[in-house]
Formats: sequence, structure tokens, C-alpha cells
Amino acid sequence: MRNNRTPQQRKPAGGSGRRLNGPLLALLVVVVVGGGFLAARSFWGMPPGPAADTGAREGELSIGGPFTLVDQDGKTVTDADFRGHWLLVYFGFTFCPDICPTELTRNSNALDLLGEKGEKITPVLISIDPERDTPEKMKDYVHFFHPRMVGLTGTPQQIAAVAKEYRVFYMKAPGDQPDTYVVDHSSLTYLIGPDGRFVQFFSGEASPQDVADKLKPLL
Ligand code: NI
Repeated sequence: MRNNRTPQQRKPAGGSGRRLNGPLLALLVVVVVGGGFLAARSFWGMPPGPAADTGAREGELSIGGPFTLVDQDGKTVTDADFRGHWLLVYFGFTFCPDICPTELTRNSNALDLLGEKGEKITPVLISIDPERDTPEKMKDYVHFFHPRMVGLTGTPQQIAAVAKEYRVFYMKAPGDQPDTYVVDHSSLTYLIGPDGRFVQFFSGEASPQDVADKLKPLL
């Protein structure tokens, strides 16, 4: 009978929060693993190159799409503003302790390896932490990685919409203070063609040289 237990046995303060984390953690694992599986399936199921026209199944595999966001200068931009440019799009956040900086540095280094050809590609960071990532914060952050990197943020609704288009998973994980949370997120870089269509993605496994080697023949 659970009412026979003393309050101490039941668990001191904070314990209830911890117990609640069980199911939440399980859900997170399911979502992350499920998302990874979906990403892997898309990756292996996707024909190489931009010719992803596979008829009826195309919609199922589509990645990317229209968006309205705010750039690092506070200007509203849409996907249409980027037509004619190759994009290397990464979703992350400026408070990210390690993975985002690693991926963004990899992307910048890949462009540098391409020399002048690399100038045809615009590196982009889309924040999945719109509450803290103001345009000003994005501006400082993206310039640290590459002089031409574009930092996009927006309202939580705008970010949710673009993340959905790109099949990006993200979820807040609480920190010690209300404003020290981190955001767990999937970590892929998306190559978008000048026509706005998704071409392929790069995982964290790819080196700067790997990425540059893939991009070079396209430019
Ligand atoms: Ni990150």
C-alpha cells in the first residue's frame, strides 16, 4: 500500500521531478532514435544528386521548403531570397557547447578548401533556440565562423515550421537556471541547390575535405 510509506521513503524534494524524467527520457530516446532512423532511411533511399524525382514517393522524402525568417541584420528573409545560391544549411544554436561549433567550423573549412569556387556557396545557420538567439547574437556568432555565414532566427513558430520542413528534431533540456537550458537537436548539414531544392546532407562524419570533394563537381 503506497500510503504506508513515509514521506522520506517517497523521495525528498526534487525526487518527483527526477521520477518524471523517466518517461520523458524514454520519449526522447524514441524520438532521437526514430529521427535518426528516418534520416538514415531518407539518406539511403535518396538517389544521389538533385534528380530526386521518384514519382509518388517524392513527397514522402522531401526535405526543405519555403520559410520566412529573420537574418542577423534583423531583416525578414524568405527561401526565395536565396535562389541562385548554393546553401550549406545547418540548424543549431549559439549556446551549443560543442557540436554546433564543430559542424560550423567543418562547413567553413570546406568552403575555404574550395577557394574561389567556395564563394558560390553561402553557409547558413538556422537557430533552433529562437528565444535566446536574437539577430544581434546570431551576427556575432556566425561572423566568428565565416565572414559570409548567414544567421537566421525568427519566432518560435517560424523556427518550428522550418525545422519541420527539414525534418530537424530539437527539444529543450533544462539547465540549472531557467536561462541555462540546452537544446538537444539533430545535427546534419543540408546542401540546397540554386533552385532551392535539397541535394544531399552531410553528417558529422564528413571531414572538410569530404564535403569539399562532394561540392567541387557541382560548382
Ligand atoms: Ni548544437
